[in-house]
Amino acid sequence: TSIYWHDNAFLPEEDVRISPHDRGYNFGDGIYEVFRVYGGKIFEAEAHFERLRRSAEGLKLALPWGLDGLRAAMTELVERNALSEGTVYLQITRGTAPRNHLFPADTAPSALAYTREVARPVQSMERGISVVTLEDIRWLHCNYKTLNLLANVLAKQEAADRGAADAVLHRDGVVTESSASNVMIVKDGLLITHPADNLILHGVTRAVALRLAQAAEIPYAERPFTLDELYAAEEAFVTGTTVEITPIVAVDGREVGSGKPGPITRRLQREFAAAIG
Ligand code: PDD
Repeated sequence: TSIYWHDNAFLPEEDVRISPHDRGYNFGDGIYEVFRVYGGKIFEAEAHFERLRRSAEGLKLALPWGLDGLRAAMTELVERNALSEGTVYLQITRGTAPRNHLFPADTAPSALAYTREVARPVQSMERGISVVTLEDIRWLHCNYKTLNLLANVLAKQEAADRGAADAVLHRDGVVTESSASNVMIVKDGLLITHPADNLILHGVTRAVALRLAQAAEIPYAERPFTLDELYAAEEAFVTGTTVEITPIVAVDGREVGSGKPGPITRRLQREFAAAIG
């Protein structure tokens, strides 16, 4: 049986009790992180916890465990589940109180975390994926990793219904990100991705990819790019904790570049593989 971490205790999944009045359940009033574990270690832990801190701040949510306490708990959770390759899901809600939009007084936030064995997505990383483009209908604080994922859920489902692996989102023709990953294109040899502002999640994998590009002397720019630039791109790919660096080989039924993963994408994939050991 799998061990969960819930409100400061380690316990088997069957013993986790969630209140019907938890604000995460009622309002989506909470935040989360998905961590990747490689070789029994949390990848880029520092960056994930720093983002969790910023999300908590954005929602005016207290973290009574402290970042160090949360980090120690997640490390112990990985050990207790003897997880070697997989993910850790951590969510924190504003706690349990009678339903009322106002923040409850004297209510402690509630935390829940568990691990999952997940293999690396070797097949899609090798072959690439097809995506469709959809309007980005989300709110204006996409930099906070909140539990409010309805727009993302609808976008991903719409993509699947149209036979694509994911949805790339745009605001008035400017590409922001995908339903659960960041998007990068290559144009005239230049790697381009949306700036890390309020319109996208500041992806941990995005930052790793840019760092790897810099080290490999691949020029890059953090600037908005349009749907037309995506259609005309030499290469395109998504970055994310679960997708790593996955090539996009078709957008709205049109091939990207040669229709095969391109050389800069391949180079970054190799560098990424080396970085995770
Ligand atoms: N998604 N953009 C969105 C909207 C995301 O939900 C995610 C992550 C990313 C990539 O961020 P990172 O590289 O830090 O994983 C970008 C997680 C994996 C999820 O919701 O399952």
